[in-house]
Amino acid sequence: MNLKILKDTHKSLRERSVDVHMPLSHEYEKTLNLMSRFLKESQSENSKVRAGVGLAAPQIGINKRMFVIYLEHEGKLINLQLVNPKIIETSAKKCYLKNGEGCLSVDERHPGLVHRHYRIKIKAYNAVNKKEEELTFTGYPAIVIQHEYDHLEGILFYDRINAFNPLATLPNEIEI
Ligand code: NI
Repeated sequence: MNLKILKDTHKSLRERSVDVHMPLSHEYEKTLNLMSRFLKESQSENSKVRAGVGLAAPQIGINKRMFVIYLEHEGKLINLQLVNPKIIETSAKKCYLKNGEGCLSVDERHPGLVHRHYRIKIKAYNAVNKKEEELTFTGYPAIVIQHEYDHLEGILFYDRINAFNPLATLPNEIEI
C-alpha cells in the first residue's frame, strides 16, 4: 500500500484547501478509498508505517476539502470519508488528549495540550455511504475530526499548544 505522506515542512500542509467539486469524481472516490485503506493497514500488527486514525487530502498533496477517519471507539468502527465538511455546532465544553496529539505529517515531538471542543456536529458528504450526512461526535472521535478538519485550514496540532504554558488547562475542560 503506497501513499506518500507529506511532512509538515511541505507547503501543501500550510495552505487552505478548496471545496471539492460535486458530484464527487470517480478519481477522488478512488483516492478516498486508498486513504481509508492506508489507515486500516497502518493499524495492522505488521505495519511498516506509523499507525494513524485520520488522514486529510493535503497530507498527500491534494489541497481539496476532504479527509478520512478510520478508528475503533468503544467497540464500534468509525469509518468516514468526509467531503466538503462543515462544523455546524460546537460545545462550550472543551477537552484535550492526555498525552497530546500526533500526526502522520509530524515527526518531531511537540509536548503540550491541544484544546478541542468536546462535542461537535458536522455536516458533510460521506463517500462511504454516498450521501450528505449530519454527524455528532463527542470525546476522542470529536478530537480526531477537529484535527483532520484543521488540516483543511492549513493548521497543525502544535499551532494550538500554548507556547508559554503548554500544560495549562482551560476552564470547562476535561481530559480524554
Ligand atoms: Ni494530522
